[in-house]
Amino acid sequence: MENVIENIKSRRSIRRYKEEQIKDEELFTILDSAKHAPSGGNSQTWQFTVVQNKEILLELNGYIKEAFEKLEVDENTYKSKKAGKVASKKDDYNFYYNAPTLIIVSNESNYSNAMADSACAIENMLLAANYLELGACWINQLTWFDNDENVRKLLTRLGISEKHKVCGSICIGYIDGIKPEKKILKENTVTIIR
Ligand SMILES: Cc1cc2nc3c(=O)[nH]c(=O)nc-3n(C[C@H](O)[C@H](O)[C@H](O)COP(=O)(O)O)c2cc1C
Repeated sequence: MENVIENIKSRRSIRRYKEEQIKDEELFTILDSAKHAPSGGNSQTWQFTVVQNKEILLELNGYIKEAFEKLEVDENTYKSKKAGKVASKKDDYNFYYNAPTLIIVSNESNYSNAMADSACAIENMLLAANYLELGACWINQLTWFDNDENVRKLLTRLGISEKHKVCGSICIGYIDGIKPEKKILKENTVTIIR
């Protein structure tokens, strides 16, 4: 059990990856961890779509860049979305940090626990990747732009149902460089009443 807590505490978002593809054995362990996540009413309505095809990933990156270009921002726009729009203007912008694997987690659009269930599965995958000493990072661009025409067409080509929304995705690969240290935690985020 101590190892479980240490795994949780040592997980960090990784944003630099080696080109080398992860092993199938590692991928299957990560997917198996996802499928063991809790879900409301044991629904398990999620779908995990693994993309390891570089050309398809780059095509998707192009559509995300275009979607950012079309995105109108104002003072109410979520800060990461604003930052994404700025970053996406760079020639070398890549929303999945050029990782060799992207797992897209979709779930039924009209299911009220879609996001919660998918987030549980995503965290399981992030922890499994950390345990396997792989790098991984939650990637939100497909959640923001899954209704963009070109993005949706590509999602359909990948077999993702029109009835599904993208709840999140994660990129995975071997870490290029050093893993970040444990982060500084915000204070006063816990209330205990006895
Ligand atoms: C819902 C959610 C969406 C996120 N989206 C992105 C993203 O699109 N790109 C990215 O680089 N990191 C993304 N992250 C990672 C966060 O930036 C990261 O978890 C946070 O900065 C804390 O760092 P840590 O994961 O290393 O503990 C996301 C995390 C969550 C939970």
